[in-house]
Amino acid sequence: MRQKAIVTVFFLMILLLVACTNTSPQKLKAVGLEEQVPQEEKDGPIRIGFSMDTLLEERWLRDRELFKEAVEALGAEVEIVAANGDDALQISQAEALIQSGIDLLVIVPHNAEATATIVHKAHLAGIQVIAYDRLVKNANIDLYVSFDNERVGEMQAEAITALVPKGNYVFIGGAITDNNAHLLKKGVFNILRPYIERGDITIVYDQWTKDWTPVNAQANMEEALRTTNKQIDAVIAANDATAGGVIQALTVAGLAGQLPVAGQDADLAGVQRIVMGTQTMTVYKPIQILSQKIAELAVAMARGEDVLAEWKVNNGKIEVPSVLLTPIAVDRNNVESTVIADGFHASKDVYQATSKE
Ligand code: GAL
Repeated sequence: MRQKAIVTVFFLMILLLVACTNTSPQKLKAVGLEEQVPQEEKDGPIRIGFSMDTLLEERWLRDRELFKEAVEALGAEVEIVAANGDDALQISQAEALIQSGIDLLVIVPHNAEATATIVHKAHLAGIQVIAYDRLVKNANIDLYVSFDNERVGEMQAEAITALVPKGNYVFIGGAITDNNAHLLKKGVFNILRPYIERGDITIVYDQWTKDWTPVNAQANMEEALRTTNKQIDAVIAANDATAGGVIQALTVAGLAGQLPVAGQDADLAGVQRIVMGTQTMTVYKPIQILSQKIAELAVAMARGEDVLAEWKVNNGKIEVPSVLLTPIAVDRNNVESTVIADGFHASKDVYQATSKE
């Protein structure tokens, strides 16, 4: 799955030398498999389209601002749309961006499969597509830039098994429509499998969470508490939003802080729960690095430049040239040296609900 190889996007995709007419200079451009539309010499700055799944979560608001700043700092323009979990809307918004004449499309898919049609349509218009943080499945996507999401799950399970090497585990997964949720689950079970096989750990509940929402995660956790008669020793939740729902259910059951809970994203609420002791760990993914990296690659590709992608990830159709960044495990011992030192959160915000300043 996570195959490392030194490749260039330029060579990995079918390289087409687009011969221009006599009146325009010859130009080399790397394009996807489906299109052969010549890139016209255009006036004005590069225009990037950014199609987002949702702005209903803290991390994506941050992604939007950071990506906009990074693209603009490179002298390009960005047009941003968000579909808030509506697949049909995400497709029609992306179509409108394509028709508006953007130079390149960056997409955070809500649904890994449904968005393949966007990639196809963009390619027909001669527009390359970058998958931002989440992979588009079964499409000739040009580039995928994310964190190592399998590693995120491994980090969660490593931290929790160190505290609870034996017992009943609950896994509250992410959205089944999001490829990251599958990668994370794979990572979690990479670590848990030997414990399960030895009979030390039993998975007493394992469920996806529709659209990653806290309310759906809370309902799942309530069901887990009910069906196990509260015989639960540890919980791994796919992100901090779902961990929030889990901890709400544990609070109602009088169990918050009594068993470890893992999350992901270093959301402010998640980090606050870590210093208060109701959440054990989170996985911090420096979004400023992700957004900066994608902005640089997007503008370079839109200019027809060659870019380097160190990894390959199979999306069911092709080996997608990929850039995978490294996540960081955070617990109460390294909050200061990670998210606070990085300026991801201010110390006063993290500790606002505790006596510590
Ligand atoms: C995932 C992403 C997580 C989290 C989640 C919910 O794709 O990896 O960081 O934000 O979506 O939006």
